[in-house]
Amino acid sequence: MNIVILTGAGISAESGLGTFRDVDGLWTQYNLEDVATPEGFLRNPSLVLDFYNKRRANCLSAQPNAAHHALARLEAAHDVLIVTQNVDDLHERAGAKRLIHMHGELLGQLCNACGDRRRAEADLTPEALCPACSEAALRPDVVWFGEMPYQMERIWEALRACDLFVSIGTSGEVYPAAGFAQDALRAGAETLELNLEPSAGARDFTDARYGPATDIVSAWVAEMGG
Ligand code: APR
Repeated sequence: MNIVILTGAGISAESGLGTFRDVDGLWTQYNLEDVATPEGFLRNPSLVLDFYNKRRANCLSAQPNAAHHALARLEAAHDVLIVTQNVDDLHERAGAKRLIHMHGELLGQLCNACGDRRRAEADLTPEALCPACSEAALRPDVVWFGEMPYQMERIWEALRACDLFVSIGTSGEVYPAAGFAQDALRAGAETLELNLEPSAGARDFTDARYGPATDIVSAWVAEMGG
């Protein structure tokens, strides 16, 4: 079976990484306009780089949980593509191979001057020099609000071809990801929501199960032969 799986912050919640819109989420602690927009970065690069340095450190100290491992097992039983909104590397560390980070990666750095992209080995500062062009123009390789997510053509092509679209741990509040279930329905696919609670897009799903991802994702994958 050809399955496209969208994941959001909820799949990493039980690994100790915060979500954005839950009660104690990141957007209740920070103003997203300040730390997740190109304008915020221009206004105060130190604040933004520090925000991502902290999240990168949290990511490196976190471990994949049972839901990440279950999805990696599913790849052996079906034709699976994971499209994650998450910028952590927990899917990779759980063994997932076919994976798209549509919102970029915390562990990546991007040079605003020359476009060089590579793994961020150290904290980023406004003074840090690009190893390729020596300009002090480095930013986290994450997609901010108002910027185009990565690999959208490949994602839409996969949604048109899938038999099943599964959404895991996302509030369904941010487009284009929030529209993927409708894209899949239009292509004739079944749609399944696995989340702690019904998301904003719950009506776009032909099936749904609610509860912690480590429980409901593991159970669903086991039923699918993963
Ligand atoms: N198991 C399953 N789902 C969970 C769990 C859990 N343990 N904990 C929380 N959730 C669910 C919440 O109910 C919520 O629906 O995960 C979802 C998290 O929603 P958000 O915090 O909005 O995160 P996400 O949907 O990934 O945000 C999308 O918004 O801020 C931008 O770029 C950022 O990629 C992010 C995008």
